Amino acid sequence: MDRQLNHKLFIRAVNLFVLLVMLLVGFICAIMGITVYGPERVMARLSERPETQTPPQPVPDVWVAPDTSAIPNDEEGERIRYGRKLIANTAEYLGPEGKVMPISNGMNCQNCHLEAGTKPYGNNYSAVASTYPKFRARSGTIESIEKRVNDCFERSLNGKPLPDDSPEMKAIVAYMKWLGKDVPKGETPKGAGLVELTYLDVPADPVKGKMLYEEKCIVCHGRNGEGVKHTGTTGWLYPPLWGEQSYNTGAGLYRLSRFAGYIKANMPLGATYLEPQLTDEEAWHIAAYVNSMPRPGKDISKDWPDITQKPVDHPFGPYADGFDEQQHKYGPFKPIIEQRKKLSALVKK
Ligand code: HEC
Ligand code: HEC
Repeated sequence: MDRQLNHKLFIRAVNLFVLLVMLLVGFICAIMGITVYGPERVMARLSERPETQTPPQPVPDVWVAPDTSAIPNDEEGERIRYGRKLIANTAEYLGPEGKVMPISNGMNCQNCHLEAGTKPYGNNYSAVASTYPKFRARSGTIESIEKRVNDCFERSLNGKPLPDDSPEMKAIVAYMKWLGKDVPKGETPKGAGLVELTYLDVPADPVKGKMLYEEKCIVCHGRNGEGVKHTGTTGWLYPPLWGEQSYNTGAGLYRLSRFAGYIKANMPLGATYLEPQLTDEEAWHIAAYVNSMPRPGKDISKDWPDITQKPVDHPFGPYADGFDEQQHKYGPFKPIIEQRKKLSALVKK
């Protein structure tokens, strides 16, 4: 009996001793940690929680295209589907050997309006139905969707306009209206068109651009920007960036900000606005290089009838702001913007 009690007391004493030793070791470790790493780091380490290491990613509220499985199974649906095909495989129908009519240079609308005009910041068509007809300073007129579509046929596809009453034009317009059907009239959804890059303080440099082009683009678009044809079918595996088969000097991409904005969120192939592969600076320099290479011309003497409305990066004079074509092509653009602000303030006085 007595023995048993003694034994229990002994076990307790041992337990207490072990506990005390562990506390002491813990205390010494804590002191050592603080003296070696400093109290801030130790506290930071202690307050770190697993949740704070992987914060939930905010879902960006960019436009999402309607699902193609929701295209109606009627006559209008047929038109929409045909329109989508024309955007994705323009060359097959309307290229130099097109089976409908040969009115364009062999590129597809989709080469620049990615994923049939549905990719966020991939030059998508989300704002077409909601914002056209609208006044455009380039033509100085109110433009219908048809007029805007033909602008790209005549410039980006260096071709001829598609008649407004052709089944092809009707199909393209039907497709764009269907894509934008959930966008309220007058609104431009987030993710429409192209990203806008910050302006550089220096001119965009074709020499730097050439080096970057050789490193990042040449594998697909070729040393001479000539691209690679699909074998056996129409259209390009990798479309051309300059030369006779590329967009002409009247095209949107011929403006440095459009080209740089396009590649920033989309090139090299696989890049997205969430995962770009170029810095803004790199995008500007590459744009300068590609757009300094030869390409088809276009008479654009009737563009921008009000010259004060020319975009800062429109590379053809005359201008109302006193800067030359060189600076309007390559920048720096900030001094032009400043000068224009001063001039418009003077006009208002
Ligand atoms: C070489 C590139 C390129 C090709 C090919 C191209 N486009 Fe475009 N398109 C552009 C650029 C650049 C813009 C202007 C984007 C901006 O300023 O934000 C544009 C704008 C448009 C717009 C106006 C979009 C809006 O929201 O205002 C429409 C419509 C359009 N294109 C239709 C077409 C069609 C149809 C085709 C094929 C026949 C085509 N594009 C082929 C580059 C191209
Ligand atoms: C892995 C191949 C690949 C690489 C690398 C690549 N591209 Fe592209 N690029 C493409 C393809 C494919 C398209 C057409 C996309 C489509 O039709 O869906 C395209 C389209 C384009 C277009 C619009 C169509 C045209 O021909 O004008 C431009 C501009 C462009 N790329 C520029 C660049 C630049 C600049 C780089 C380097 C920073 C680059 N690309 C790197 C494959 C590539």
